[in-house]
Amino acid sequence: MANKPEKFIDENGLRLDGRAVDEMRPMTIEIGVLSRADGSCYLEWGKNKILAAVYGPRELHPRRMQKPDEAIVRYRYNMAAFSVEDRARPGPSRRSIEISKVSRDAFAPIIMTKYYPSAVIDVFAEVLQADAGTRTAAINAASIALADAGIPMKGLISACAVGKVDGQLVLDLSKDEDNYGNADLPIAMTQDGEISLLQMDGNLTKEEFKKALEMATEGCRQILEIQKEALKKKFESHEEVVKSLV
Ligand code: CDP
Repeated sequence: MANKPEKFIDENGLRLDGRAVDEMRPMTIEIGVLSRADGSCYLEWGKNKILAAVYGPRELHPRRMQKPDEAIVRYRYNMAAFSVEDRARPGPSRRSIEISKVSRDAFAPIIMTKYYPSAVIDVFAEVLQADAGTRTAAINAASIALADAGIPMKGLISACAVGKVDGQLVLDLSKDEDNYGNADLPIAMTQDGEISLLQMDGNLTKEEFKKALEMATEGCRQILEIQKEALKKKFESHEEVVKSLV
């Protein structure tokens, strides 16, 4: 692990990687990268690299696990062994089980499970390269993979984290800021601003918490635009194919 930097924010208000306090790392989204999945997405966010795949809705086996009036959603967050500096131990860990659970719950307000009784929708989020903020990056990718799979949803979910370094709130923590910072607040929300995931590490005052929520809301709004743009691009190219067929 790198040594703790003396200062995280310089006299010009810029962070170690040159970003302003309210600036996100660049994000790119590619849709439909896996031919065997019903929906998929490859997302890069700074140095984070995430692959998300969605399978379903399909009949759930064993049958005793089925819900007769709706589909169940399963979400698996996994870090590849080679995704972090020290090799990540393969298989589920307390951390990945927790992240999988809160991430699945983050999609509860939008996935219209009632349309598919007795079915299952499986979401896999594989972290290929980690650099802080992987749970939020995975949620952003999963949201797109779900849309690509044609799962009926009331909208998209967008997620980002706000943290505190050198006593200042910053959007989208980098690895060093996450390691040595004073707080980390990952948030996911619907496009209407309903919060569906909120976790917090460290301490914030009431005022800081309020400001952090505002910053995260603005961050999610920017991510939503990137997500919508990526979907529009894919949808438009499909529209052309459809037009050429008729
Ligand atoms: O990734 P996220 O910020 O959602 O979760 P975290 O538990 O706060 O982890 C922060 C970062 O620590 C990860 O993004 C990884 O870069 C790193 N990490 C690691 O190096 N080894 C692990 N076993 C877990 C996390």
